[in-house]
Amino acid sequence: MKNLQSKIIISDQFSTFLSLFGDIFFDRKSESVVVLCDQNTAHYCLPALQEIIREKGLVWNVFVMNAGEEFKTLHQSQEMIQFLLQTGATRNTVLINLGGGTVCDLGGFVASVYKRGIPFLNLPTTLIAQADAAIGGKTGVNHLTIKNLIGTFHAPMAVGIFPQFLQTLPQQHWKSGLGELFKYAMIGADISLQAISALQPNNTQPLTGVIQEAVRFKTAIVDADPFEKGPRKVLNFGHTVGHAIESLALENNLGITHGEAVAAGVVAETYLSVEALDLNSSVLNKVSEFFLQHFSIQPELTEDPARLLQLMLHDKKNRSHDAIQPVLLSQNGEPRVNETVSQELITRSLVFLHELIQKRGG
Ligand SMILES: NC(=O)c1ccc[n+]([C@@H]2O[C@H](COP(=O)([O-])OP(=O)(O)OC[C@H]3O[C@@H](n4cnc5c(N)ncnc54)[C@H](O)[C@@H]3O)[C@@H](O)[C@H]2O)c1
Repeated sequence: MKNLQSKIIISDQFSTFLSLFGDIFFDRKSESVVVLCDQNTAHYCLPALQEIIREKGLVWNVFVMNAGEEFKTLHQSQEMIQFLLQTGATRNTVLINLGGGTVCDLGGFVASVYKRGIPFLNLPTTLIAQADAAIGGKTGVNHLTIKNLIGTFHAPMAVGIFPQFLQTLPQQHWKSGLGELFKYAMIGADISLQAISALQPNNTQPLTGVIQEAVRFKTAIVDADPFEKGPRKVLNFGHTVGHAIESLALENNLGITHGEAVAAGVVAETYLSVEALDLNSSVLNKVSEFFLQHFSIQPELTEDPARLLQLMLHDKKNRSHDAIQPVLLSQNGEPRVNETVSQELITRSLVFLHELIQKRGG
């Protein structure tokens, strides 16, 4: 079976980044390049990429998708596929995903199915995508408001991470990235909550270090378990509750970013860990404090535990339809997978989260 390894380049120097990234094209006989971006990355990030593509003398086309999670759909994928067809893309065409997790997930999915698979590169432009979404080879789109219901495993040939892209990221999406880093801090990456709190988009040195550590941590886990049979599941900490909140937001047109939802999920799943596995309650206090300091979530999203429970029952991480299995933290803080938690306890964790969110509002 194939693995999901990709060449990963991280540099906060633009010239180094350009030349390393350009060398990847130089290495292969690509016939043409299609760039997938959204309206924002077309504006802020595409001009930098144009330089390399022109320099290599490649034929290239650009597809600009609508920005935002609500466009991570099969319909948008079909439009992209139609564009590839119209522009004569072959199996030797390289797709470059220039954007956040939405662009990388959707573009990776299209690359995995178009003509049974074409090569692609990820050039992540959000904190979530640089620290997490662009690596590891999970692709996907949402369906009927269920997150990532349709997807594949298909690794990019390479991932080029240039932290300076983050300087134009809106505050809400910067915060979203902090949510995913919050998860990494809790599951054993060498990233402290203090280090996350101190990050600034324009202070690229510490930022590059934290992204490097998240990438190192994730890569080691993905290499050991590419298709999520066991250990890779730990990367889903915070996501059982987080995905349910995101799905509810999609259903009701309520705005929340992926990372904000994951941060809320980290709180609820830490609560579950205290109750189910005797994790020290001081961890929950620390986690709650960090959450209150950085995130502000609409209380409407957590006021109906029964609906959130229903959405959680769809989670791909469950082994059966009526058993909910969030990732938990054991007594010594290490992540544990395949632990079934009662619906009554999950309801209590959601009530705890809701009260915390109301506290933030008040
Ligand atoms: N495949 C994985 O392993 C994995 C892991 C984590 C998250 N994800 C997915 O990632 C998605 C969330 O990622 P995201 O937060 O990056 O979302 P996103 O791609 O929707 O980007 C968020 C917003 O930022 C804008 N933007 C992107 N780069 C910019 C820049 N440099 N300057 C200005 N604006 C910019 C985008 O246009 C968009 O409006 C979710 O769908 C989530 O499920 C996937």
